Amino acid sequence: MYTSKISGLGVYVPDNVVTNEDLSKMMDTSDEWIQERTGIKERRWIKPDSGDTASSMGAKAAEKAIANAGIDKKDIDLIIFATLSPDYYFPGGGVLVQKLLGLDTVGALDIRNQCTGFVYGLSVADQFVKTGMYKNVLVVGGELHSKGLDKTTRGRTVAVLFGDGAGAAVVSRSDDQNRGILSTHLHSQGEYAEALTVKHPSMTKWVPEVVADLDNLTYYPFMDGQLVFKHAIVRFSEAIQEGLQANNLTREDIDMFIPHQANLRISQYVQKKFGLSENQIHNNIQKYGNTTAASIPLALTEAVELGKIKKGDLVVIAAFGSGFTWGSVVMRW
Ligand code: ACO
Repeated sequence: MYTSKISGLGVYVPDNVVTNEDLSKMMDTSDEWIQERTGIKERRWIKPDSGDTASSMGAKAAEKAIANAGIDKKDIDLIIFATLSPDYYFPGGGVLVQKLLGLDTVGALDIRNQCTGFVYGLSVADQFVKTGMYKNVLVVGGELHSKGLDKTTRGRTVAVLFGDGAGAAVVSRSDDQNRGILSTHLHSQGEYAEALTVKHPSMTKWVPEVVADLDNLTYYPFMDGQLVFKHAIVRFSEAIQEGLQANNLTREDIDMFIPHQANLRISQYVQKKFGLSENQIHNNIQKYGNTTAASIPLALTEAVELGKIKKGDLVVIAAFGSGFTWGSVVMRW
């Protein structure tokens, strides 16, 4: 078996900053409510005429990750693209990333695991690299939420949470046996698929049927927030514990924990449970909101750029999201 590691990281966020104050002009909400419940101060939403999409933002982040890895685009062997806000119903956005990057006809795989999408993507990349099939796999998470949110008081519980953006990582074969991705663990529980969902349009109810029913709001995200919260804190903890145990490590070994940025209160609950100090966790939901598949690379890249992650550090990533899906990645940086 080969060793795999993250060799490059990159992010892209739209310039347009939307503060909680801005939201309070669109719906009945307040900076105080949003910050108290979620920790979010502002998020990025694309300007409607910007032309940005999940895949175009993903491609911009990917360009930076490839440059950061110090490789050439032609060295990418496979693209893995995670999003819940695709440009098209089909084909998936992976092929659009391939086109925008001008890559050779490498494979493009789409991941539909929402907030856990990047963890699933890293896990798939890790398998391809460890088995020797590929040397460099590009994992991209890109999200364009702002066009699909109900920005009225009716949709305020969900609309205030989500932001647009993208992040990418290059997962590469490495010669260093002591560093790299140590383990990945993936889980799902479809019993709760409807607890956090955009149901339609889909083949169970296509566009004409949705449009014909004025009371039908199933094209907006639905979230049972309290149920999601309760499951998230349990599953985050399980995922971390499972990853640590698989590597004969304990919570004392964690140098940096990068949680999916679902809600600052969820991250803080998990931080407290594992007895982690402020230096052992990195959150940036305050600036970007929940960017689902993009949130982990956005936080990981920032932590690396701030010098919070150093060579040899034990980095634990965990995510939970719609599906329900959850998982972890444990890495020696
Ligand atoms: N501004 C002001 N008031 C609001 C807002 C808002 N944006 N949203 C809801 N309220 C009101 C409600 O109407 C309700 O009012 P009422 O008491 O008069 O009926 C009150 O605030 C409390 O509403 P709840 O929904 O009970 O609020 P809760 O304390 O559960 O917080 C929240 C909501 C923040 C969404 C919380 O449930 C949560 O964080 N859940 C987890 C969310 C999450 O992590 N989602 C991402 C998952 S990952 C993925 O895959 C997408």
